[in-house]
Amino acid sequence: MALGLLCLGLSLLRTLQSQAQDTTPTLIPSPPLSKVPLQPDFQDDQFQGKWYLIGLAGNAFRKGGQSQYNMHRTIYKLNDDHSYNVTSALLRGQNCDVQIRIFVPSVQPGQFTLGYMPQYLPAQSYTVRVVATNYTQFAMVFFERKYGNRVNFRTTLYGRTKELSPAVRRSFVNFAESLGLTGDNIIFPVPTVPSPATVTLRELEDPSYRTGLRTRHPKIHPADGDPLC
Ligand SMILES: *[C@@H]1O[C@H](CO)[C@@H](O)[C@H](O)[C@H]1NC(C)=O
Ligand SMILES: *[C@@H]1O[C@H](CO)[C@@H](O)[C@H](O)[C@H]1NC(C)=O
Repeated sequence: MALGLLCLGLSLLRTLQSQAQDTTPTLIPSPPLSKVPLQPDFQDDQFQGKWYLIGLAGNAFRKGGQSQYNMHRTIYKLNDDHSYNVTSALLRGQNCDVQIRIFVPSVQPGQFTLGYMPQYLPAQSYTVRVVATNYTQFAMVFFERKYGNRVNFRTTLYGRTKELSPAVRRSFVNFAESLGLTGDNIIFPVPTVPSPATVTLRELEDPSYRTGLRTRHPKIHPADGDPLC
């Protein structure tokens, strides 16, 4: 009887283990930061402004795994203390999903950590590193986030316009591969068609919009300012 229970217990344990393996695929390990290039002589004032997300690669991304990625845009606004207010907006169906973060300079120019915002669950560590940019056309940025022993990393290709030359896209793919990622982990979101669904930055800076980690906005017609979605 006792033996029977033990056997049952062991087979249950094995089932649970194999399920756990099925649902948590091993992540490609994050490269050491020393292997991630840093834009020399980073100019934070020239980097600010609006960037379109042209490419995205990361160890938690899988092509076709998520429902279609729409292109999003991110606005970096430089504060006097050299931190950035970073506002990202993504059009999902009828909604404009907005995320606001603060990037605080750390260690060396071009490297940042996440500033405290009460609505965020604190990651144990969050590193942002500007890999390369020429400020007027493209930028590649590396992000690493640690929770316990789970490390997610991703890299983005930003453009000042919605299109970048094939040569720049290819160098982004090469960079992603140098981090150990494969073609399966690299996504080029589709440009969103111009849409009346817009929310302006001024509206966003209204404190009532900044209550959640991610806020969903109904379609809002632009009043003035920079349309985000
Ligand atoms: C950044 O956000 C803070 C707090 O929300 C605000 O006080 C500040 O004016 C913003 N900075 C810029 C440059 O917009
Ligand atoms: C920035 O990069 C793009 C793409 O490689 C290039 O066409 C452009 O001339 C560069 N601009 C500057 C100012 O270096």
